[in-house]
Amino acid sequence: MSGFDHFAVLAPLFARLSYSQTEVLREAASLPVQGRLLEVGGGTGRAAAAIHGLVDEVIVSDISLGMLQKASHPALLPVCNGSETLPFADDSFERVIMVDALHHVIDRDRSVREMYRVLKPGGVLVIEEPDIRTFGIKLVAIAEKVLLMRSHFLTPDQIVEMCSSFAGGEKQVKVVKRTAWIIIKK
Ligand SMILES: C[S@@+](CC[C@H](N)C(=O)[O-])C[C@H]1O[C@@H](n2cnc3c(N)ncnc32)[C@H](O)[C@@H]1O
Repeated sequence: MSGFDHFAVLAPLFARLSYSQTEVLREAASLPVQGRLLEVGGGTGRAAAAIHGLVDEVIVSDISLGMLQKASHPALLPVCNGSETLPFADDSFERVIMVDALHHVIDRDRSVREMYRVLKPGGVLVIEEPDIRTFGIKLVAIAEKVLLMRSHFLTPDQIVEMCSSFAGGEKQVKVVKRTAWIIIKK
């Protein structure tokens, strides 16, 4: 990747964190399901590890090799790649998820199009993002700006709108405390 990889530095910390929203993610992604799940911007596989038993195969892609090298579960298949150009054929996955990563990617529009492209018809794309409408997440956004992390948060409605130009299927937003899940069916 070009530029400083903040996440390579943060990887040991992420490797120690467990994912606390398994039940909401399970429901949002309609798991269990037979087939393959792709987590984009999956980092150390914190979320993927929590749901890997609910699907046949889990692939974790991330732009940071440092994050992938700290992958938290041996069953996860790592792929080092940017979300803007996913190295998978159209209609490859039953489920695609992105957890806490959309605000970090540089080209968000291209990334969501790519995630939708590799999703099979009948599949579900779930984007989990901190809810920028809340005070606590506004503070996080300021802290990430100070750390020059180039984060750019969108509201759940803005994410839905961005997807509406290419995704014609059902879209839902679920909010629990300071986290939003955008659920898109293909
Ligand atoms: C806050 S971490 C979240 C990681 C993981 N999803 C989790 O919840 O633990 C954000 C991740 O997005 C990744 N990322 C940032 N820009 C990316 C891009 N363009 N393509 C793929 N991954 C990216 C970072 O390397 C990092 O691993």
